[in-house]
Amino acid sequence: MSADAPSPANYSPGLEGVVAGETAVSTVEDGLKYRGYSVGELCEKATFDEVAHLLLHGDLPTAKELSAFQARVTTARRIPEPVKQLYPNVPKWAYPLDALRTAVSMVSLFDPDAADNTHEANVRKAERLLGQMPVMVADQYRISKGLQPVMARPELGHSANFLYMLRGTEPTPEEVRALDVSLILYAEHEFNASTFTARVIVSTQSDLHSAIVGAIGALKGPLHGGANEKVMDVVRAAGGPDAAEKWTLDALARKERIMGFGHRVYKAGDVRAGILKGYARAAAITPDLQKWETTADIIERVMGEQKKMYPNLDWPAGRLYHAMDLEIPLYTPMFAMSRIAGWAAHVIEQTDHNRLIRPRSIYTGEPTRSVKPIGERG
Ligand SMILES: CC(C)(COP(=O)(O)OP(=O)(O)OC[C@H]1O[C@@H](n2cnc3c(N)ncnc32)[C@H](O)[C@@H]1OP(=O)(O)O)[C@@H](O)C(=O)NCCC(=O)NCCS
Repeated sequence: MSADAPSPANYSPGLEGVVAGETAVSTVEDGLKYRGYSVGELCEKATFDEVAHLLLHGDLPTAKELSAFQARVTTARRIPEPVKQLYPNVPKWAYPLDALRTAVSMVSLFDPDAADNTHEANVRKAERLLGQMPVMVADQYRISKGLQPVMARPELGHSANFLYMLRGTEPTPEEVRALDVSLILYAEHEFNASTFTARVIVSTQSDLHSAIVGAIGALKGPLHGGANEKVMDVVRAAGGPDAAEKWTLDALARKERIMGFGHRVYKAGDVRAGILKGYARAAAITPDLQKWETTADIIERVMGEQKKMYPNLDWPAGRLYHAMDLEIPLYTPMFAMSRIAGWAAHVIEQTDHNRLIRPRSIYTGEPTRSVKPIGERG
C-alpha cells in the first residue's frame, strides 16, 4: 500500500459524519439557520421570496430590493416558446419531476448566460430558474390533464402564483401562507445529497444548469425528496385511527421503512417537521382529512416509542399538500421549485471558492491479474 492509499480507518459509509466542505449558506448546528437566521423566525416573519433573496444575495432584502428582485424573477416566468412546446410532446404519463429535469436542461440552451460562470451571471441564472421552475411544473401539469396553461401573474409571489397557475383560480391567503412556510422550510439544507451533487458538478467548472439538472436527479429518490410523495401512501396504508398502531408495529416487525421518518443528521427530531405540523393540521378541514391527521399522530407516537425515530419535514409536507388538494406527483417538483434557491446559493459559493471535489475509494475488486488472449479466456 502506498503512503497515501485510502485507509479503512478514514472511511465512513455514505460519508456519514464526514465534513466535506465549508459553507456560509446554512448550518444545522443548534437548530437550522439560513445565513444566521433561524428557520422558525424566518417562517414567522418572512415570505419565501424574501428567503430566496436571503439565500441568493446573502441578506434579507429591503422593500426596494425585494421589489427589484421580484421584478427580475417574474420577468423570467415568461419561458422561451420552444421550452413551452416541450410539454405537449411529453407523454401524459411522464413523471412530473422527470419533465421538470428535462425542461431545466432544455431552458439552459436559451439562457444568455448559460456558459458564463461568473458570480454575477450565476445569480442571474439562479433568479431566472427561480421564476421558471414553478411555471414549468404548473404548465406540464395542466397540459398533462388536457387543460390550457394559465398565464403567470407578475403581482403574485412565488407560492400564490404557483397555486394560481396550477388551478386557474385565486388561492386563499391561508393556502398561500401554508405553502410559503413549507417552501421556506424546503429551501435549503446544508450538504444534503442533492446539494452535494450540485456542488460536485460545478466543482469541475461545469455550469449552474448542469448542476441543477443533476440535483433534481438526486432529489428524486425516496430516501431524499421523493419521500414527500410516499407519505400519504403510508398514512392510507395504516388504514385509519383504529388500525394505525397495529399497522405500524407490523410494518416495523417486517423491517419496513416508514417514509417521512428518520434523518441522517437529526436523530432527535427535525425542527422543520414541528413547524409545518400546525399548518398540516389547520389545512385538514374535512372529517376525512382529520381522520388522516389522527392516523398520522398514532404512527408518529408508535415510531417514537418503538424506534426513537421522529418525523422529518416530508411527513407534514405530504399531508399539507394533500389537504390542499394537490396531486401527489407534484410534491417533489414543488420541493425542487423551492430548493432551487439553496442549490443555486451552493453552486455560486462552490464556483466562487472552487476546489475540485474528488474523493478516494477503498478497492474491493480482483487482485492484479494479466490479460489473456481472447482465445484462452473462459
Ligand atoms: C433518511 C434516512 C435515509 C436516513 O438514513 P440513515 O441515517 O442512513 O439511517 P439508516 O438507513 O442507517 O438506518 C438506521 C436504522 O434505522 C432504520 N430506519 C431508518 N429510517 C427508518 C424509517 N423511516 N422507518 C423505519 N426504520 C428506519 C433502518 O432500517 C436501520 O435499522 P437497522 O439498524 O435495524 O438496520 C432514513 O431514515 C430513511 O430511509 N427514512 C425514510 C425516507 C425519508 O423519509 N427520507 C426523507 C429524509 S429528509
